[in-house]
Amino acid sequence: FSYPLPANEPVLGYAPGSPERTALKKTLAELKGQTADIPMYIGGNEVRTGKLVEIRPPHETGHLLGHFHAGDASHVTQAIDAALAAREGWSNLPWEDRAGIFLRAADLIATKYRYHMNGTTMLGQSKNAFQAEIDAACELIDFLRYNVHFLSEIYKQQPVSGPGMHNRLEWRALEGFVLAVTPFNFTAIGGNLPTSAALCGNVVVWKPANTQVYSAQMFLRILREAGLPDGVINLIYVDGPTIGEVCFAHREFAGVHFTGSTGVFNAMWKTIGANIPNYRSYPRIVGETGGKDFVIAHKSASPDVVATALLRGAFEYQGQKCSAASRAYIPSNIADEVKRLLVDGVNSFKMGTVEDFGNFVNAVIDEKSFDRIARYIDDVINSGGASASILVGGTYDKSKGWYIAPTVIEATDPQYVTMCDEIFGPVLTIHVYDAEQYEAALRLVDATSPYALTGSVIAQDREAVVLATQALRNAAGNFYINDKPTGAVVGQQPFGGARASGTNDKAGSQLNLYRWLSARTIKETF
Ligand code: ALA
Repeated sequence: FSYPLPANEPVLGYAPGSPERTALKKTLAELKGQTADIPMYIGGNEVRTGKLVEIRPPHETGHLLGHFHAGDASHVTQAIDAALAAREGWSNLPWEDRAGIFLRAADLIATKYRYHMNGTTMLGQSKNAFQAEIDAACELIDFLRYNVHFLSEIYKQQPVSGPGMHNRLEWRALEGFVLAVTPFNFTAIGGNLPTSAALCGNVVVWKPANTQVYSAQMFLRILREAGLPDGVINLIYVDGPTIGEVCFAHREFAGVHFTGSTGVFNAMWKTIGANIPNYRSYPRIVGETGGKDFVIAHKSASPDVVATALLRGAFEYQGQKCSAASRAYIPSNIADEVKRLLVDGVNSFKMGTVEDFGNFVNAVIDEKSFDRIARYIDDVINSGGASASILVGGTYDKSKGWYIAPTVIEATDPQYVTMCDEIFGPVLTIHVYDAEQYEAALRLVDATSPYALTGSVIAQDREAVVLATQALRNAAGNFYINDKPTGAVVGQQPFGGARASGTNDKAGSQLNLYRWLSARTIKETF
């Protein structure tokens, strides 16, 4: 049998005076009134090392939310041992019982801990209420529920049998442990990477980004309340190189489920490749990495649609989505109007803390990000306008938090550095092209970036849409027509890209789950 397709979790609106806004505000105040002491979770144990790392809201760095206990190489080994000890029991559990745990976790988030998931994401990662709701509540719930449906569809796939013969596929878990490495920018990715592998019967060592620990530990506590057995997912806070050193040298390393930078993923491949003879099996290497996501408008596009796609696509969550619109190609016939709308739109944004629900823009994640983004802006200002200039924004301030004003750069040089580099912040670069040279502009879009994650074409002319869809076949794993390139919904737009953007094992689809299974073919003769 298979589990039916679930409905997507409805997105709550948090309108002024709504019960959800009142409840969320109460949770935010509670969280801010405590100083959290956050352990690692290894096997059944809460592990406190005393090596404390502070957690502060990126938008209010003067406030201490709490601290977590960081570990070292010995904790990675302990986590692997705990995972391997849990493996036999977990992988032999009837799969419906594994599914029950994750479905229950989804319900717990929907009904009991929604505001805690959103609140920890808002405070720890500086997401406004809407961005937190679509991530830490809805997308995470959807991953948990849809993966059960997708896996049930996989399990029912069986080969042909005949007279005198019974053939079957046994969808085994991988032999060993899986490492999940998750980024700060989506709490739902933090939840999906360990749980998708675990649902398939695997045991997991989970390393979230330091800047995600606050929401990640909340999710782990929910999984435990939902009945996740000890050792199935072990949450540790150890630096990346140390994790890599221990995990990739281990004979039982069975795979890595990664979202993060292209550079880190490349380094992982190299280390794993060098260790291949030591492993029991060839590890599964699944990664979603960088993006330099484009929007190309055609001369038939409505300036309003272009500007809205860019304002939302580039600046929601401060542009810190791997899918964020960060380079745009605007035809000359509508360029003045699009620029005016962009400037007006950016000037209308309110920026500040997440507790003020009127703020559209909050802070970027940390000082390192802040400094990196500010350097790109400074370079444009210092360049004297030869190849690029600031259209709007271009200011920043770290006195209270890591605030960078949403910034639009206009580049006359389509290969200017901000048209090419992944900036991962609230910076959009536009380039105006000759409206009669659409096909040349499409070639430019394809050739400008090594990434291929998301992209959009905006056009009312159907032929222009077809041309772009064909010319940009390999330029994006998620391609949007007349929309922003962000906001993939589980079950609706399976997510991921190829080229330097990853292995394109679409999160939120069967394709991803296949990577965490290793089938055995069994033939019985009568
Ligand atoms: N899945 C996220 C989006 O589509 C990254 O925006």
